[in-house]
Amino acid sequence: MILVFGGTGQLGRELFRAAAERHVALQASARTEADIADAAAVAAALKRWQPDLVVNAAAYTNVDGAESHEAEARRANELGPAVLAAACAEAGIALVHISTDYVFDGSKDGAYRESDAVHPINAYGRGKAAGEEAVRRTLDRHVILRTAWLYSEFGRNFLKTMLQLAQTRDELRVVADQHGSPTSARELAEAILHIAPRLIAEPRLSGTYHFTAGGATTWHGFAECIVAAAAPITGRNPRIKPIATADFPTSAKRPANSRLDCSLFVQTFGLKPRPWREAVQATTRALVTAPQLAENHVA
Ligand SMILES: NC(=O)c1ccc[n+]([C@@H]2O[C@H](COP(=O)([O-])OP(=O)(O)OC[C@H]3O[C@@H](n4cnc5c(N)ncnc54)[C@H](OP(=O)(O)O)[C@@H]3O)[C@@H](O)[C@H]2O)c1
Repeated sequence: MILVFGGTGQLGRELFRAAAERHVALQASARTEADIADAAAVAAALKRWQPDLVVNAAAYTNVDGAESHEAEARRANELGPAVLAAACAEAGIALVHISTDYVFDGSKDGAYRESDAVHPINAYGRGKAAGEEAVRRTLDRHVILRTAWLYSEFGRNFLKTMLQLAQTRDELRVVADQHGSPTSARELAEAILHIAPRLIAEPRLSGTYHFTAGGATTWHGFAECIVAAAAPITGRNPRIKPIATADFPTSAKRPANSRLDCSLFVQTFGLKPRPWREAVQATTRALVTAPQLAENHVA
């Protein structure tokens, strides 16, 4: 059985859905059931569910909010993973911990590999980098999966924001000088379920891996793809104006290059991510044809 913390988030909900579709036994725990920074609550959850594998999909993910609430972000993104790793070590089980492209500073020319040095440039990234370290230090049986630019039918994300804005605006201004791979939380969930049996069966299999959708674009390219997929159904086709990061000031700095090299994951687990456009188009169509689906599930 797989126990997921962060069960009400984008990835948590997609894991729940993907497991149900595949008849995989999975329990999704919400923050109200177990706060990952609370050792007693985590121990009680492990005792109750007796999982073979734990997935940490819980995190403080408000990148700008983390600048002014760094202690709160650290509690979820550093202390939480440390507590989970210690509980898994005690129980002798493996942990899949989700991390982020924001551990890098974005200055590399080319896609980041797992062996590249981390150098976060914002508070969220600092907390996530510290969380990774806590997991490595505490638990041998871990897989840290770094991903990027997650979106889903559930929760709040860039794709849903663009769809909403496209309903009312004739022009969207979108940053065109940050590069990354829009990644479907559904595809990431499927990848986690794909590797789960091996993580359960092979105690020595551990390490850090990158998993994003294939190929890369900018936020502007991502927005263009969303609007193009929605337009034939919604009739809304606003102009999408490319702007520079400097024209869209935010509290947190963002890396200009978020591209992650996923070849180690492909080699190790034999699963190749699909080109990013495929899932963006599918998710957009699902949302515009059945918008109430997403609204019913907003966390
Ligand atoms: N979103 C992205 O673009 C992105 C990019 C790269 C990596 N990631 C990583 O991918 C993972 C999944 O992200 P996501 O987008 O699915 O996140 P999300 O939708 O924001 O969901 C995060 C979940 O974590 C829960 N949570 C927060 N603090 C908690 C705590 N102390 N104890 C227990 N649960 C807690 C939240 O519960 P409440 O709703 O009750 O607060 C929510 O269910 C995270 O590790 C994130 O850092 C995300």
